Amino acid sequence: MLALMSGRPRCGNPAAAPRTLREVGASELPPVVLVTGASSGLGLAIARALLRRRYRLILTARESSLHRFAKHGIFPSERVWLRALDVTSAADRKAVVAEANARWGGVDVLVNNAGISLRAVVEHVSDADRALQMDVNFIAPIELSRLVLPSMRKKRSGRILNISSVGGMMAMPTMSTYSASKFALEGASEALWYEVRPFGIYVTLVQPGFIKSESFRNVMYTGPSKAASDTVHSAYHWHYHFMEGFIGRVARRVFATPDSVAAKVVRTIQLKHPPLRIPATFDATLFSLLRRLLPRSAYHWFLYRSLPGIQTWAPPSTDIPVAPPVVETDDATNAADADIVFTLGRP
Ligand SMILES: NC(=O)c1ccc[n+]([C@@H]2O[C@H](COP(=O)([O-])OP(=O)(O)OC[C@H]3O[C@@H](n4cnc5c(N)ncnc54)[C@H](OP(=O)(O)O)[C@@H]3O)[C@@H](O)[C@H]2O)c1
Repeated sequence: MLALMSGRPRCGNPAAAPRTLREVGASELPPVVLVTGASSGLGLAIARALLRRRYRLILTARESSLHRFAKHGIFPSERVWLRALDVTSAADRKAVVAEANARWGGVDVLVNNAGISLRAVVEHVSDADRALQMDVNFIAPIELSRLVLPSMRKKRSGRILNISSVGGMMAMPTMSTYSASKFALEGASEALWYEVRPFGIYVTLVQPGFIKSESFRNVMYTGPSKAASDTVHSAYHWHYHFMEGFIGRVARRVFATPDSVAAKVVRTIQLKHPPLRIPATFDATLFSLLRRLLPRSAYHWFLYRSLPGIQTWAPPSTDIPVAPPVVETDDATNAADADIVFTLGRP
């Protein structure tokens, strides 16, 4: 088995010799890049970075979000299509890829960026909640990959970049379903990496950690998680209280920005041999090192001990109201967060 796996580019088939991006995509025409969730957040930063270079772009967003492109000065042109794509809609997915196949000879680079993030402990997630999270973060990227692969295989080149997360290498409390979706994406992408390398196609998992942006405000709560977050009597109230505050604070303080992560995405597209995984922020690099270097038990012990306010997460009785544990907070993050939480279904 080892001998089988250690050989030099065995997957190499002369016709599938790796090519640089400039060569990806037929002849003189610039490569075609399709980006999902491109009207805001990281997707928008990726779109802007790609617009500065020579690509043909298919920038997609949900129908209701398409208007944002104009607000950001992005307009359709000969080399830029703006298309409605709700990634959970099989019809939308098929229509966009069919048009790309018919008019531009297929997609050369697929950037699966669209994602949602549920904040809920395992006990607060219903089947429907879980299905929604998995639909957007896992099933949609894989289904889009299935649609673009036939033309990539035919050309014997292509790139699929799946925006994963530190949540795809480590799980955080209150983010169980989000982590499950990213772990699933990581597993499927890893398998796909082996499957399509023989065709000269590269799959990469881009793993951002915390990004300095307002995107954390888009986190969604399930009915029970919202209620528990709002109610001090709930058994899980302090789990939410501390994790909300912690994530909000960190997201405001880190150095990584949507632009810095977008620059990594573009550099990855241009690599001759993009790796399977790219940690895209400093904390992602750190966590991937910790995960690899520390024995598992030490790793989990370390993370558990580092959780904010962990000693007070389960007060002796959750049947009676308890005073908020005294833990240092540095600003009004929690109060501010309380105004912006969304229940399932965004505005
Ligand atoms: N921000 C971070 O700290 C961070 C860290 C690690 C990983 N990530 C990953 O980075 C990616 C981008 O996240 P972000 O930070 O830019 O978050 P964001 O600001 O909330 O953007 C998410 C994007 O996904 C789109 N989207 C959601 N559901 C969709 C659907 N059904 N169909 C099509 N588009 C949909 C949203 O469109 P609407 O505007 O229409 O809702 C939005 O454009 C995600 O995969 C996320 O998991 C982010």
